[in-house]
Amino acid sequence: MEISIRNAERKDIEAIMLIENSSFHENIAESRETFLERTEVFPDGFLVLMVNGRVIGYISSELWEYSEDIDVRQFQLEHSIMDTHRSNGSELYISSIGILEEYRGSGYGKILVSELEKKMIYNYGINSIILIVSENWTAARRIYEKNGFERIQTISGFFHDDNNSDAIVMRKII
Ligand SMILES: CC(C)(COP(=O)(O)OP(=O)(O)OC[C@H]1O[C@@H](n2cnc3c(N)ncnc32)[C@H](O)[C@@H]1OP(=O)(O)O)[C@@H](O)C(=O)NCCC(=O)NCCS
Repeated sequence: MEISIRNAERKDIEAIMLIENSSFHENIAESRETFLERTEVFPDGFLVLMVNGRVIGYISSELWEYSEDIDVRQFQLEHSIMDTHRSNGSELYISSIGILEEYRGSGYGKILVSELEKKMIYNYGINSIILIVSENWTAARRIYEKNGFERIQTISGFFHDDNNSDAIVMRKII
């Protein structure tokens, strides 16, 4: 099994959309345009994981200015990265992560989170990481909780999935 991680590129878009649509409820999955923009605006913050030459996972992110007061509008799905990304921001916002269904549960999600974190500390000197996760996404919550993220806020009914699940805002101070 050959595993590698690199920056996402435009040519990966079909593989990324397959992962996206297999990972999220149709009302939550983000669009091709949103992901393409992420590859253009902040390619260093957008990684893909390959197994034997096939893209089976991705993680995307932005840099934000750190603030104690969280502006929940920043988390809006499908927002343009151009409106929120600050190239010298000190906080990393993980906008999305997904692993192709048949590859889940083998540690790849955990690897993507830790690789992105290492790279962003080393190359961008980030001091914290922020993200939102649905209360129902057990595997994702487990990764974050074991990796030092703490719940700082709840956004009631944020996700327009079948049960209008709450979003938990989590932050890790590095
Ligand atoms: C979240 C996701 C990226 C995790 O990737 P993954 O490769 O499956 O996760 P890992 O194998 O690294 O497992 C991470 C942890 O979750 C646990 N886990 C995995 N699947 C689980 C499940 N269905 N229920 C409970 N725990 C689970 C693992 O045991 C592991 O915990 P451990 O370190 O204590 O052993 C992947 O499951 C996915 O794409 N889910 C759908 C999209 C999603 O929810 N994205 C999160 C957005 S915030």
